[in-house]
Amino acid sequence: DVEFSLRPKTLSEYIGQEKAKENLSVYIEAAKQRGEALDHVLLYGPPGLGKTTLSQIIANELNVNLKITSGPAIEKPGDLAALLTNLGPGDVLFIDEIHRLSKAVEEVLYPAMEDFALDIMIGKGPSARSIRIDLAHFTLVGATTRAGQLTSPLRDRFGVLLRLEMYSPEELCQIIVRSAGILGIPCDEEGAMELAKRSRGTPRIANRMLKRVRDFAQVIGNGTVTREIVDTALNRLEVDKLGLDNIDRRMLQTIITHYNGGPVGLETIAAVLGEETVTIEDVYEPYLMQLGFLSRTPRGRCVTPLAYKHLGLDKNGQTLL
Ligand code: ADE
Repeated sequence: DVEFSLRPKTLSEYIGQEKAKENLSVYIEAAKQRGEALDHVLLYGPPGLGKTTLSQIIANELNVNLKITSGPAIEKPGDLAALLTNLGPGDVLFIDEIHRLSKAVEEVLYPAMEDFALDIMIGKGPSARSIRIDLAHFTLVGATTRAGQLTSPLRDRFGVLLRLEMYSPEELCQIIVRSAGILGIPCDEEGAMELAKRSRGTPRIANRMLKRVRDFAQVIGNGTVTREIVDTALNRLEVDKLGLDNIDRRMLQTIITHYNGGPVGLETIAAVLGEETVTIEDVYEPYLMQLGFLSRTPRGRCVTPLAYKHLGLDKNGQTLL
């Protein structure tokens, strides 16, 4: 599966996230030397930056098994108990969207993380009692878009907190060249860099757009991904020079024309755009804030003068000719 093979398998193949990588490599090496399970790891940051990939790398570097699941997939405490009792010593359990665990499931997770034990209630009423099942010393790798979404008892049980940052265009360019090599897509350096600049700091988006640009290169170009082909393809996809799409621009335009640039509350923006507030917070805002186009203030969201300039608008929101 080519899709899967785009994911690097070792820390040394993984491009970017230098700080997270350096620290993680020390923790992995130390755990291996001691013959212990790695402490529980929480990965947080915007979607598409490689949280699932990192969990696979962690398991691979530790030479242990990996089980992948997600918060919403674990419906009942029994579902989690089934997963946990199947883990061997040192194995990694990856729970994506860990902030979406139910309260009941979360409470089973606490003693599992802390004492490697499951407390199971059997029976009802006066004869009810609890029995304790010992678990293998495992590593929980949790992923969430924002650490602040976690309850503090859960957050406090992670020994390692790693924040993933958006990638620089240079890092994304390296990732695109690597992916093009794996997929057998001819791609020159300028083409890769143009695509990198328009991928919103996100490898998942870069890799997705690389495949679309390849289609244009094949059908309307000579097969090679060049700067010109990237520009043509992304203009057709309505992705602008900085990677903003229709929804990004509509969000900025809405705040400018209806709310005079802000401040305006998140709920209001979500209602006007017909999007969920969490989607706006997790998917759209991080990149707009990274660009310095949007600021979060106590009274609401504000569009910055930089964004007006990028959209070609004067301070009254009128189109500059
Ligand atoms: N593909 C997706 N993300 C990557 C990364 N961080 N390094 C290398 N290849 C990738």
